[in-house]
Amino acid sequence: MILANLQTPSGIILLATLFGACIAMNYILARRRKIAQLSTFQSTTGNKGDLLAKAPAPICFKSQSPPAYPDWSVDRTKPLPYRAFRHGPKYQITMGLRTIEPDEWIELDNQFPKFHADKAARIEERGDKCVKTHPDAIPAATELLEELASYLPARYPSMFKRTSVGIDNLWSGESFNILERPLREDPMATCARLVQDDLALLLEQPDGTYRLLAGCILLAGFWRLSDKFGMSLSDIHTSGDVPHFQEKLEKGMTKFFQRLKSHTIYSRNNYFIQVDDSLPWSHSIGSEDAPVVSWSTAEKNKIIQHHWFRSERQSLRRLPKTGAVCFTIRTYFLPIKEIAQEDYVPGRLASAVRSWDDDVARYKGREKYGEVLLSYLDRKHGDQVKNGLDVRGEDEARQFPW
Ligand code: HEM
Repeated sequence: MILANLQTPSGIILLATLFGACIAMNYILARRRKIAQLSTFQSTTGNKGDLLAKAPAPICFKSQSPPAYPDWSVDRTKPLPYRAFRHGPKYQITMGLRTIEPDEWIELDNQFPKFHADKAARIEERGDKCVKTHPDAIPAATELLEELASYLPARYPSMFKRTSVGIDNLWSGESFNILERPLREDPMATCARLVQDDLALLLEQPDGTYRLLAGCILLAGFWRLSDKFGMSLSDIHTSGDVPHFQEKLEKGMTKFFQRLKSHTIYSRNNYFIQVDDSLPWSHSIGSEDAPVVSWSTAEKNKIIQHHWFRSERQSLRRLPKTGAVCFTIRTYFLPIKEIAQEDYVPGRLASAVRSWDDDVARYKGREKYGEVLLSYLDRKHGDQVKNGLDVRGEDEARQFPW
C-alpha cells in the first residue's frame, strides 16, 4: 500500500524531499566531524585554537581498538625519555597541551613491575586516603575500567588478555572480573593496578564546573588526593598556589574542559626536581600525614646524589558514555646524575631552572637545591662542550620527546 502510494507523483516528490534531507544531514554531520577533528590547542602558546562552540553530547562515539605497540616487552621496552624543559631566558606559563593519537593513551614499559608493586603496597597501606570514588562517579569509574579492559589487551597483548568477564594480567597472574557486582574493590583501584599512571575523574556539575570525584593517586610525590577530593578544577590549582594560575591558565582550562571531545586525547608534560629518591611521596617536603606540607621543611643544599628529576606525562580525555573527563598522570623518575649524561641536557636544564621567575622558583623549591644543582649542571655542560659537543646543533638533534 505504502509502496503503491510512493509511485504517485506526490509520493515521488516526498521521496525526493526525504532523499535531499538525508544528503543535507549527512553533509552537516560530516562537516561537524571534520571541524571537530581540526579543533586543537596549540602546545607552545597555550592559546586556544580552532574550537567548536559547546561541550559534546557524550554519546555515539565508541573507542577504537588500538594496534599493538610495536615489539613491546615488559623486560625490554624502556621508558620514553621525556626531557620537557626549555632553554631560558623566560619560563613560559602555558597549558602546554598537544593532541596525541588515541593509540598512545597509556604508556607502559619495563618499569611496570616496580610501579605495580609500589601501587599495590600503597593501596594496602593508605586505602581511601589515596583511592576514592564518590557515589556519583561510580558509573564513570566503571566506564574507565571497561575502557582499559578493552584498550590494554589490544595495545599490550603480551601483558594482557581480554576474558569473557574482564581482563587478565599475564605477567602478574591477576585476573579481574569487571562484570561482577558488587566489584571486589573500588574500580579506580583496579584501574590503577592495570597501568603505571595515577588516575583521576572529573565530572561536570550543574554550574558547569568540573569536580574531582574519583581518583587513585598513589605516586604523585607532591600532592595528596585527600586534600583535593571533591574540589573544582580551579580550587585544586589555587589551593596548591600553582604559579600564575589565575592570570595565565584558569580561563583556558575552563574552556578546554567545556569543549573536550571524546575522540581527541590531549597530553602535557611537566618537570620538577626532588631531593629524595621516593617515587610515591617526596618526604623532603614533610610527612605524608602532616597537616600541611611545604618546601620550607626541606633540607637545603643536599649533595647531588639526592637530586632526582621527576617528570609527568599527563593525558586528558572525555569518556564517551558518561562524559566524565579522565586525567592520567604517568611519572618518570630518574637521578639527575643519570640524565646529566645525555647530550645537551645539563646545559638546557640549567638554563631552564634559571629561567623560572620568583613564583615558579618558590613553587618548585629552587631555594633548597638551586646552588648544588646548578653548579653540578654547569660543570657537566662544560665537560660536554670540552669533549666536542657543538651546542649549535641542539635544535636539530632534539626530537620529541626530548
Ligand atoms: C588542562 C588541564 C590542566 C592544566 C593545563 C594544568 C596545569 C597545571 C600546572 C601548570 C600545574 C603546576 C605544575 C606543573 O607545571 O604541572 C598544575 C598542578 C597541579 N594540577 Fe593541574 N592542570 C590541568 C589539569 C589538572 C587536572 C584535571 C587535575 C586533577 C586532578 C589537576 C591537578 C593538579 C594538581 C593536584 C596539581 C598540584 C597542585 C599542588 O601543588 O597542590 N590538574 N596543573
